[in-house]
Amino acid sequence: MAETSSPERDYLPGMGKHYLLPFYDLVHQVSALARVHAEMVELARPQPGQRVLDVGCGTGNLLRATAKRHRDVELSGVDPDLKMLARAERKLRRRARLDRGYAQELGFPGATFDVVFSSLMLHHLDTTSKDEMLAEVRRVLKPGGVLVLADIVHHHRGPMKEHLHDNVGDSVRKRIEAAGFTVEPTRVRRLRMFGTTGVEVARVH
Ligand SMILES: C[S@@+](CC[C@H](N)C(=O)[O-])C[C@H]1O[C@@H](n2cnc3c(N)ncnc32)[C@H](O)[C@@H]1O
Repeated sequence: MAETSSPERDYLPGMGKHYLLPFYDLVHQVSALARVHAEMVELARPQPGQRVLDVGCGTGNLLRATAKRHRDVELSGVDPDLKMLARAERKLRRRARLDRGYAQELGFPGATFDVVFSSLMLHHLDTTSKDEMLAEVRRVLKPGGVLVLADIVHHHRGPMKEHLHDNVGDSVRKRIEAAGFTVEPTRVRRLRMFGTTGVEVARVH
C-alpha cells in the first residue's frame, strides 16, 4: 500500500469515530448500501481495459462490486484510513491497487481514469475540501470520463452535521456543475441509517 499524497491532513473516519470502524460493514449491510453501489456500477458502465478509481473507498465494497461485474477493468482505491484499507485489501485480494491518500490531493497524473466513484465520502469534507476534491476528480478524469458520486442530501444530526448544511437539496449537483462537469438529474434514493441520498452522474468533456 502506498502513500499517494500528503499524510498530514485531518480526516473524519468512516462512522465519525475510529472505535466504530469494526461495525462499518454491519452498517453497510443494514443500510442496504449494496443496492446503491450496484446502481453506481451500472451507471458508470466501465468498458474492458478502462481505469476506475474509488475516492474514499473505505472497506472496499464498491470496488468489490465493480470487480464482480467487470473482470477486465483496472481498479484503484484511495482512503486516508489505514484500518479501512486493510479491510479492503483482505476483501479485494490484490484485485485493486489501494493507496493511502486524500480526496483533496489525488496522487495521480492528470487524465488517468475513465471512471471515478465516490460513495458517502463527500460529507466527510468541509466546503473548501469538497471543491478541492471535485477539482482533483476533474483533473484525474480523462476527457469523456465520468464521476458517479453518492452522498447524503438532507440535514443529519450525526457527527458530520457541520459538513451536511451545504449538501442539502440540489447543492451537491450544483457544486459538481460549478466544478466544470455536465451533470444528469439527481437520482434520489433512501438508505436506512444514512437517509436520503443523491446519486450523481457527471461527465467531463
Ligand atoms: C462513510 S465511509 C464510506 C466508505 C465507502 N465509500 C462506502 O461507500 O462504503 C467514508 C469514507 O471516507 C473516508 N474519508 C474521510 N475523509 C477523506 C478524505 N479527505 N479523502 C478521502 N477519503 C476520506 C473515510 O476514511 C471513510 O472510509
